[in-house]
Amino acid sequence: MSVIQSSLFTLLDASKIDVSKSINVASVPQRSLFRYPGGKTWLVPYIRSWMMTLQSRTTSFIELFAGGGIVSLTVAAEGLAEQVILVELDDDVASVWLTSLNDQRDWLAQQIIEFEMTPENVDKVLSHYPTSIHEQAFQTILRNRVNHGGILAMGAGRIKYGENGKGLRSRWYPLTLKRRIFDISNLTNLTFIHGDAFTVLSQYQTHPNAVFFIDPPYTASTQKAGTRLYRHAQIDHERLFEQAAKITGDFLMTYDNDDVVRLLAKRYGFDCEAIAMKNTHHAQMNELLISKNLEWLRQ
Ligand SMILES: C[S@@+](CC[C@H](N)C(=O)[O-])C[C@H]1O[C@@H](n2cnc3c(N)ncnc32)[C@H](O)[C@@H]1O
Repeated sequence: MSVIQSSLFTLLDASKIDVSKSINVASVPQRSLFRYPGGKTWLVPYIRSWMMTLQSRTTSFIELFAGGGIVSLTVAAEGLAEQVILVELDDDVASVWLTSLNDQRDWLAQQIIEFEMTPENVDKVLSHYPTSIHEQAFQTILRNRVNHGGILAMGAGRIKYGENGKGLRSRWYPLTLKRRIFDISNLTNLTFIHGDAFTVLSQYQTHPNAVFFIDPPYTASTQKAGTRLYRHAQIDHERLFEQAAKITGDFLMTYDNDDVVRLLAKRYGFDCEAIAMKNTHHAQMNELLISKNLEWLRQ
């Protein structure tokens, strides 16, 4: 199946979403190297639907808070935009993206394949300061795979028992990770920027054919769910909304379903809709989609 055929197929598929039912994430191809806290695999069918309403005018798809970047990887792999740009501030997360897209990807894949997962070996690799970006990338992938919930922020604990008592090996899939590294490196329409979301937003804000996917740390609401999940968890949410209001093209934002966020969205004249999803503990909950106009969701 060609890229265009496969996009059409998935787009047609996406037109039947019921926002009150959570998406079965097993139906979404996993492409990310990360298990990312707050990852948006569940949102992928919505993104396809949204892109279908815009497709003829989308040149650049820009994900401002990339994390594991599943949304951008899907848009790039399914050819839903000409150019895909990911932006992430965290040095560790950035090292993985940079290495997957540079000539050290083979080294990284080889390290993953050769690594024997034992608590001693994990300690050995993580006990020293990395001397290169690719070494930092290997350490980050390892930490992401052995920490609870894939959390990379300071203070995150390691998996002890894991799934089926497999302990640290629970989330270690070397061949899958290797394949994903090469799949990512083959995405010629994908660019990664190690930097600040606000800087990139201001650079592309007035491009008529640029659309933004904005999934910031959830720290605007009363619960501040994102506080302990990321090293860079504090952002100026008011400024983000203010800047989003200046986007010429379109944007889709995600937040926790909270009155503080709804009020913020209302003040800037944005449209909101609660969407059912399942969190990492498989509990059913709602998150908020925010955009200029979400009529496409309600049709
Ligand atoms: C909610 S997570 C994104 C999850 C991502 N959408 C996924 O599916 O994996 C938010 C991310 O924003 C990053 N971040 C925080 N402040 C940032 C900033 N000013 N610029 C760019 N990235 C930032 C954090 O490091 C974190 O990775």
